Amino acid sequence: MNEKVKKLKEQALTNIEKATNLKEVNELKILYLGKKGPINELTMHLKELNNEEKREFGKILNDLKNEITSQIEEKIRYYEDLEIKEKLEKEKIDITLPGVKIPLGAPNILEHIIEEIENICMSMGYDVVDGPEIEEDRFNFELLNIPKGHPARDAQDTFYIKEEEILLRSQTSPVQARTMLKAGGDKPIRMICPGKTYRRDDDDATHSHQFMQIEGLLVDKNVSLSDLKGTMDAIFKKLFGSSCEVRFRPSYYQFTEPSVETDISCFACKGKGCSLCKNTGWITVSGAGIVHPNVLKNCGYDPNIWSGFAFGFGAERLAMLKYGISDIRTFYQTDLREIRDFDRREKNND
Ligand code: DAH
Repeated sequence: MNEKVKKLKEQALTNIEKATNLKEVNELKILYLGKKGPINELTMHLKELNNEEKREFGKILNDLKNEITSQIEEKIRYYEDLEIKEKLEKEKIDITLPGVKIPLGAPNILEHIIEEIENICMSMGYDVVDGPEIEEDRFNFELLNIPKGHPARDAQDTFYIKEEEILLRSQTSPVQARTMLKAGGDKPIRMICPGKTYRRDDDDATHSHQFMQIEGLLVDKNVSLSDLKGTMDAIFKKLFGSSCEVRFRPSYYQFTEPSVETDISCFACKGKGCSLCKNTGWITVSGAGIVHPNVLKNCGYDPNIWSGFAFGFGAERLAMLKYGISDIRTFYQTDLREIRDFDRREKNND
C-alpha cells in the first residue's frame, strides 16, 4: 500500500511540475483530488484496516493530499498571475503614439460666401428671405417691368415648365416683387435673398445652367443712387478688404432706372492691371439700380412716396474671385479635394 502511495505521489508531483498552463493544472486537480480520484479511492479502503493501521495510513493519505493540494494551488496561482500579466501587457496603451485622425467636414465654398454676405447685410439691418425656385412668369418677368414678348427676356434663356406661365426662375429678382407685395405697400423694406437660379446656358468654365444669385432690395423714402453706392461700398470693403474701391458704370435693366454695373478695384493687382481684371484694374461684380417706378407701382408701392434700390450678385462669381477658383463647374462637381483645399486656405487666412 505504501508503495502505491509513493508511486502516486511521485507521478502526481511530476505531472504537476510538467503542467504548462492553467487548464492542465485544473485537469490535474480534478484527476488527483476529485471525488473519483486515487486519493479518495484509497481513503475508501481505510475502513478495511484496524485502528492502528487506520491512524498510520490515514496520516499518510492526509499528507499526500495536502502536498498535492499545495503544489496544485501554487501552480494555479502562478498561472493565474501570468495570465493577468499577459492580459495587462496586451492591453497596454502607449499614450505617446499619435491618435487616429478623424476626417472633419468643411464648409461648402458657396454656402460660405453666401453666409458672409448675409452676415454683412444683416449687420446693416437687412432681412434674409426666401422665394420659390419654381416661379410664375408674372413674378419672374411681368411685375419686374418685362412684359411678354419683350426683348429683355431673350437675355435670360429660361426653362419653362408650363409655357408662358410656370418656369424655373432665371433670377432671384422675383423675390423683390414677392417681398413688396407681401409688405403691403406701406412699410420700408431691407431684404436680401440668396437662391438658386436656372438658365438654358451651355456649361463651361464661366457659365452654368444652374447658379446662385443674391438679390438685394431696399425700399424707403428719398432713396438715391448715393445710398446704393454707399451700400455697395460697405459690402465689398467687408468682403474684399478696406482698400477695395467701388465704381458704377451705366447699364440697363428693365426693372431699375437708372441701372448700373458695379465694379470693384482689382484686389489682385491693386488696380494696376492684370489677367484677372483683363488689364482694366476693375472687376464687375454686380448689377444694380434704382427701382423702376413701374415695378414699385406693380408691387403695391406708390412711386410718388416710395423709392428704392436693388442689386444682384452672382454668388459663384464672387466666390471664384475671392478664393481664386477658375472654373464655375468646380462648385457642382462634388470634388472633396476642392472643399478641403478651400478649408485649408481659409484657415491659413485666419
Ligand atoms: N437679375 C439680374 C440678372 O440676373 C441682376 C440684377 C441686376 C438684379 C440689377 C438686380 C438689379 O436687383 O437691380 O441679370
